[in-house]
Amino acid sequence: MAKAGSIVGEVLESIKGMIQTGITTKEIEVFAEGRIKALGGKPAFKGYRGYPASICTSVNDEVVHGIPSSRKLKDGDIISVDLGVYCDGFYGDGAFTAPVGKIDNETAALLRITEEALTLGIENAVEGKRISDISHAIQSHAEKNGFSVVRTFVGHGIGRELHEEPQIPNYGPPGKGPRLKKGMTLAIEPMVNFGAYEVKILGDGWTAVTTDGKKSAHFEHTVLVTSGRPKILTKASRKTYN
Ligand code: MF3
Ligand code: CO
Repeated sequence: MAKAGSIVGEVLESIKGMIQTGITTKEIEVFAEGRIKALGGKPAFKGYRGYPASICTSVNDEVVHGIPSSRKLKDGDIISVDLGVYCDGFYGDGAFTAPVGKIDNETAALLRITEEALTLGIENAVEGKRISDISHAIQSHAEKNGFSVVRTFVGHGIGRELHEEPQIPNYGPPGKGPRLKKGMTLAIEPMVNFGAYEVKILGDGWTAVTTDGKKSAHFEHTVLVTSGRPKILTKASRKTYN
């Protein structure tokens, strides 16, 4: 799990450095697939339920599962990059949302609050708490700041499979669901919308967009539950350069 996670973290960190006006999402895809393989992993998303690429690139009102294409990023866009790796029998899964060039203050707040919501969710991934303590921490932070959390997609257990039980909703009351035990590995992934929480799937069968056309952000880490502080497995272990 640590090795798969470290590849996720390292490749995502490199991709952050590539995000700029004019680059296409397909160029990011090609880089990501090459780096994942060079580091000894396999792209976990490619072929998953027929998904056609190694990463998901979701721009602006795209929430998740955007398919890399010849679309060029423009100044003022935001892009979410979601990346999964399989290595030595185990999976890692992570995502970030980044600005392209200069974004307005409200959009910057959406990104900041979503990442903070992930951090608060992770802080609740502690032995003895329950799954929905994670959910509640995420929802409270997003809604307190005037944003909404997506219901249709949820976080998940992860390990020998990309998606395992339990589901981890990004909303709900605290104190419900399975109790957390040390050794559990969870992919926690808030998707937070600027406007309403509803999403719809585009005709490509994958791309989820907000129904109101407003922007959406997504951050994800794979974490290990311990009796103390949770260990984030998908952090970049060292600075990488392209
Ligand atoms: N990170 C996404 C999720 O956790 C994975 C996308 S699934 C794929 O669950 F089909 F797009 F690969
Ligand atoms: Co995931």
